[in-house]
Amino acid sequence: MDQEINQRIIGASPAGAQDRESAAQAVREMFTSIAPRYDLLNHVLSFNIDRVWWWRTARKFDAILRRPQARALDLCCGTGDMTFALSRRANSSSPQILGADFSHAMLQRAAAKTAQKSKPGGTTPRWIEADALRLPFPDGHFNLVTSAFGFRNLADYDAGLREIVRVLTPGGECGILDFGEPSGVIGKCYRVYFKKVLPAIGTMISGVRGPYAYLPASVERFPAPDEMLGRMRQAGFRTASWTPYSFGIAGLYRGVKRS
Ligand SMILES: C[S@@+](CC[C@H](N)C(=O)[O-])C[C@H]1O[C@@H](n2cnc3c(N)ncnc32)[C@H](O)[C@@H]1O
Repeated sequence: MDQEINQRIIGASPAGAQDRESAAQAVREMFTSIAPRYDLLNHVLSFNIDRVWWWRTARKFDAILRRPQARALDLCCGTGDMTFALSRRANSSSPQILGADFSHAMLQRAAAKTAQKSKPGGTTPRWIEADALRLPFPDGHFNLVTSAFGFRNLADYDAGLREIVRVLTPGGECGILDFGEPSGVIGKCYRVYFKKVLPAIGTMISGVRGPYAYLPASVERFPAPDEMLGRMRQAGFRTASWTPYSFGIAGLYRGVKRS
């Protein structure tokens, strides 16, 4: 499998992007433009299932989150809901939990929600503006790195995986939650919703054209689970697995870094 992986750079490619830099810039501008309505749209368009997906993901990492000295990084944290899900699983003996994103507007929303979303006496997340492809952290710094619906937007998936591996401790774990493409009858119905209904409602509520057409296109571009797992192993994960959520509409990639 590993040998079969296509070596060309693959990553998000919003309309008009020419290269890695312009793709990243277009992605940042897109999320900045929808930041004011992002949470509302997320919950409406996913019928609130997004909350269950974040919770299921965080729950998988209880063993790490309950270690007092653990360090966790939630990449592409946006308005912070995955980060809050992690912090709510942690004991009051508190690991350090950090949410990172390169859109200032999204982070401002996360910061504004912090008091209300944090568990009393529990761990309070901190926020940092940073590019997932150039993380300002030393090698082997985190026991856990997560990313929910953010990794797919990176301009270079292999570089993103290598950067995650770099900042993880040996034996550290990674959880990437993202959309998938369900098959069968459910897949057919879902595709009508995802490609036609969702972009129309998203554009109407956000008042911004583009981002909600980009969403289905970016999911289509994203590697299928087998290929993604191969790329994870190549990047330096000892084990890699994928668990479908809600018939494969979303799914969790898990990886453990080689010791
Ligand atoms: C779809 S939102 C996901 C937000 C949040 N994790 C959630 O589950 O709702 C994707 C986020 O990824 C961020 N993002 C995309 N590429 C990034 C990069 N290279 N570095 C940091 N953040 C990035 C965007 O700014 C945006 O906030």
